[in-house]
Amino acid sequence: MPATAAKEETFMDTGLPLSAGLPHRVADLSADTVRFGRKELDLALVEMPGLDSLRQEYAGKKPLAGAKIMGSLHMTIQTGVLIETLVELGADVRWVSCNIFSTQDHAAAATVAGPDGTADAPKGIPVYAWKGETLPEYWWCTLQALIWPDGSGPNLILDDGGDATLIVHLGREYEESGTIPAVDTADSEEFRCILQLLHDVRAAKGDKFWHEMASSIRGVSEETTTGVHRLYERVREGSLLFPAINVNDSVTKSKFDNIYGCRHSLVDAIMRATDVLIAGKKALVCGFGDVGKGSVQSLAGQSARVSVSEIDPICALQACMLGIDVVRIDESVGDFDIFVTTTGNRSIISVEHMKRMKHNAIVCNIGHFDNEIDIADLEELVKKGEVEKIEIKPQVHEFKFKNTTHGPNGGGHSILILAEGRLVNLGCATGHPSFVMSASFTNQVMAQIELHKNAETYGKTVTVLPKQLDEKVARLHLDKFGAKLTELRPDQAEYIGVTVEGPYKAEQYRY
Ligand code: NAD
Ligand code: ADE
Repeated sequence: MPATAAKEETFMDTGLPLSAGLPHRVADLSADTVRFGRKELDLALVEMPGLDSLRQEYAGKKPLAGAKIMGSLHMTIQTGVLIETLVELGADVRWVSCNIFSTQDHAAAATVAGPDGTADAPKGIPVYAWKGETLPEYWWCTLQALIWPDGSGPNLILDDGGDATLIVHLGREYEESGTIPAVDTADSEEFRCILQLLHDVRAAKGDKFWHEMASSIRGVSEETTTGVHRLYERVREGSLLFPAINVNDSVTKSKFDNIYGCRHSLVDAIMRATDVLIAGKKALVCGFGDVGKGSVQSLAGQSARVSVSEIDPICALQACMLGIDVVRIDESVGDFDIFVTTTGNRSIISVEHMKRMKHNAIVCNIGHFDNEIDIADLEELVKKGEVEKIEIKPQVHEFKFKNTTHGPNGGGHSILILAEGRLVNLGCATGHPSFVMSASFTNQVMAQIELHKNAETYGKTVTVLPKQLDEKVARLHLDKFGAKLTELRPDQAEYIGVTVEGPYKAEQYRY
């Protein structure tokens, strides 16, 4: 197929102009929704001592003056507090969500209105996000946040999962090679949207658009494991265009958000979605990394009987040491009531697995992308008429298999898929609580300040923030618990080979 013709007026089936120049686009900017969002933002700030103390530390100093930050990260209340912190520190910010289901519409509305604005006279930042975007709308939103009113682009990206980083890299790569692959070569619905966007941008804005944008971007800070994998892949291939800070691997991010955040938000999502009793149910958590460990704690906290599947012998052994059965999904799929994928890997639960699941088994994913569960293949069976898809409510679907015989009365069985296979804690609930996100986002703000000050000193590499800053993030969160940290004496510091001020552990220490 030849490159698709330009559609300057509207992008795919969104009905929205390609680069619309809209000041914002959210679901509902009514006074009530703004008030609700603002109230929750105020409450969240009290639970986000790390962000609050950065606001105080930098009061009047504007360390981010001159920074033009494009953010692609779930547009929740906690993210609203992050955004308003970046703005207080002097940044010029534009935002989208990094998932079609994760936006909290009142958070988006209040962030557009801003702390000093109203629904009628918004004074906040441009947000392009709403709960339940289509994939074309999602990529349209991403483009809007990348283009400032004067036509220029960001000089910093704050990414979660790497989609903003991806579109800039792909756009520039195809400008370099001179051709954009035809839209019908895409192997997924998502990639079709990406290719169509790139074709339309080329037709509307010429073949230097992404070069110019990429050259003005000084760096990116990346929030999550999957996004960080994508960055290291680019470093290996030699294709990374600007320096990156890996926020995920700050200890106060991955060992808190990924574990304790999921401990809180996984069962929250399953309960909001299904109201099913979790106690006594058999649950399989696929993957026993950080998110898997939090997910197991979450389900075990409700007295589910939890097993895990793993490919890594170290993680499998960790599970064994906690008395958790390590099983293969292929051999035990019929035993479980609840399935949770946490691997960051693809095709963990296949349609063949789903055919063998118990009647009304609950299937969900808490990893970043939706390809852990083969939803695309399941949708194919729906198209062929082998499976019926029934919406119970948004983000909760029953899939009824017509040709199986282990359902009610020897007929077809059903399974319940949550959030259409997208990360369930943000699709069916509201993600991690504020306190946990405070630690993650304090790292994000410090990463953005560091990139704004010193990006050019890093080269095209991926870097983790220094341990002193990790310890600072932890320290900022102790008072809230009334924790009294013991002060290290100089003789003790010397004995264990550290300084009184820290860092208190060697780089190789694993926590
Ligand atoms: P991790 O690398 O610590 O853990 C993933 C685990 O999955 C590893 O132990 C790996 O060995 C295992 N695994 C890989 N392939 C497997 C397979 N075929 N079968 C069984 N196990 C397999 O990563 P993480 O930090 O736990 O993150 C996991 C995913 O969750 C990523 O996509 C990350 O971006 C995402 N994440 C989501 C949230 C959220 O709020 N939903 C929060 C943090 C991270
Ligand atoms: N990731 C997990 N929980 C989140 C939240 N509440 N806000 C933003 N990103 C998140």
